[in-house]
Amino acid sequence: MAAFIYGSITELTGRTPLLRLARFGKGLKADLIGKLELFNPNHSVKDRIALAMIEQAERDGLIKPGDIIAETTSGNTGIGVAAFAAAKGYRFRVYINDFVSVERSKIIQAYGAEVVPFSTVPGFADYYEASDGDFVAATRWLVAQVKEAEPHVHFLQQLQNPANPQIHERTTGPEIWRDTDGRLDIFVASVGTGGTLSGTGRYLKEQNPAIRVVAVEPGAGSQPSDRRPEPLEITGVHAFSEQPPERIPPNLDHQVYDEVIAVETWQAYQAAREFALAEGVLVGDSSGAVLYAARQLAARPENQGARIVLLLADGGANYLSTELFNHHLPAETLKNATAVQTSQPFL
Ligand SMILES: Cc1ncc(COP(=O)(O)O)c(C=O)c1O
Repeated sequence: MAAFIYGSITELTGRTPLLRLARFGKGLKADLIGKLELFNPNHSVKDRIALAMIEQAERDGLIKPGDIIAETTSGNTGIGVAAFAAAKGYRFRVYINDFVSVERSKIIQAYGAEVVPFSTVPGFADYYEASDGDFVAATRWLVAQVKEAEPHVHFLQQLQNPANPQIHERTTGPEIWRDTDGRLDIFVASVGTGGTLSGTGRYLKEQNPAIRVVAVEPGAGSQPSDRRPEPLEITGVHAFSEQPPERIPPNLDHQVYDEVIAVETWQAYQAAREFALAEGVLVGDSSGAVLYAARQLAARPENQGARIVLLLADGGANYLSTELFNHHLPAETLKNATAVQTSQPFL
């Protein structure tokens, strides 16, 4: 009998399972298959890029144990980096969206990292407002400010770090191709940095150009606007179609996707709740958005008999402080909810 013992938590990243969504997809003419990224060590797809970006910086000689790594994130990347930084002996500081669930900031702090809410960074709120809610620009501004004051801090910069899409091209895509035996017609994923969709989609299309790649983005009612600057948003996901080029994360490859489906936050919540009840698996709201979009795709006559692979980005346990799984509160009632109404202060 050969011993099989892992040497570090980092080695448990990736190789996540595919699950046929037989009960959630009941009555649909297409076959829905979910890739459960919650099986990563820190329960999200972001473990892949957290590790890849740290290891690329190590190879490039940019960091050594004891150094400070930093990142701006809506949560999952921060959790992954916090865990791997601990396992590798780095210090980690995370600049985080004020409305992430309370679990996220507590987990990051449990790994010994420093959590800095965006609102506490002097000037950030003014810049964000002046840039008309441009998150990409505001993040760039923040990184420049910190680097000027503390040049030794190394930002991973997931929005533009090429190691982000590359790790999906090297792992997520090949895993799906191998585990389906190359039998899939459509791949669906949401877009935050664009890394997952771009890297995975690129690999799958290289294997079979006929595979359709569908991107999911928040609907108009779930994006910040003048009327509602802080709506209840889909976690980790941002709108990119009909946005000026400077608002698009450099890691989103426009050549990869064939179609964009817009989903509102309440619809994403609804689908994640139905999925919990149908399959006995808790996933986050961005997965809910992908589930909702996949069901729309499956209902189209041209997709009869198609196999649709859905990237379910994270598990649902880190959302229990939110209304995501509150079955007593109909999801429709969250249509006009704001982030402030539905979140708990996290520090
Ligand atoms: C929960 C969740 N879903 C989806 C995404 C989008 O993934 P990507 O950044 O690869 O586009 C993220 C990224 O932050 C996320 O945290």
